Amino acid sequence: MTDLKRDRVSWLDGDMPFSDSFGDHFYSRRDGRAECGHVFLAGNGLPERWEAANRFTVGELGFGTGLNFLETWRLWRETRTNDGTLEFVSFEAFPMKADFIRRAIGSWPELGGLLDLLLQRWSELAVKPAAWRLDEQTSLRVVVGDALSGLGNWDGMADAWYLDGFAPARNPDMWSAELMRAVARHTRPGGTFASYTAAGWVRRNLDAAGFDVEKAPGHGGKREMIRGRLAG
Ligand SMILES: C[S@@+](CC[C@H](N)C(=O)[O-])C[C@H]1O[C@@H](n2cnc3c(N)ncnc32)[C@H](O)[C@@H]1O
Repeated sequence: MTDLKRDRVSWLDGDMPFSDSFGDHFYSRRDGRAECGHVFLAGNGLPERWEAANRFTVGELGFGTGLNFLETWRLWRETRTNDGTLEFVSFEAFPMKADFIRRAIGSWPELGGLLDLLLQRWSELAVKPAAWRLDEQTSLRVVVGDALSGLGNWDGMADAWYLDGFAPARNPDMWSAELMRAVARHTRPGGTFASYTAAGWVRRNLDAAGFDVEKAPGHGGKREMIRGRLAG
């Protein structure tokens, strides 16, 4: 058994997780699920891109409550073709306890069935690293540890990236030039990323790593987000 490192989490309004160590929310206070749809799914051209592919890989920095994964899986099950496969790989340094994940995701009853399936596997995280086959066309792998070292040991490539560390000013390691270069190295030709932040130095790190970066309207109260495609 591995002793997993945990974040210190408080709860606002009953079911809204807040990281005490990073001083930030895990997702938009307004509607995290709608934010995921706008920023990460639409920002990466999903579901249209996976409808046109046989095999699609999503990479994520920061698994958190699993909200992005569960919303992606829900949409995937609605839109996938008969023979397509989705591989979701997420890098997470401080995996949440199962009961915290349940408390957060409880706000979205439409994700409840998928949440149960995810939590059936969750205790395996402390035992051995592996990709879990969650249904006949979907696998999830949560790579535990710092994202930079996790990516260094991962030999896969993603078609779409969800860049979802805490706010850059509070968690600069999750947006560093070195990590953005590693993300680019693990992106298939024509692959994309999306993020809720439009911080100038994050844009410059992504640009220097080889992405064509553009601003787009943000979700909820946020004026801007960014998205981009691997150049060339
Ligand atoms: C904004 S939250 C992610 C929200 C998540 N995508 C969701 O759907 O709930 C950021 C996550 O990044 C993780 N994190 C912070 N620093 C990290 C690092 N250096 N490497 C890997 N994960 C990190 C935190 O533990 C937290 O779960």
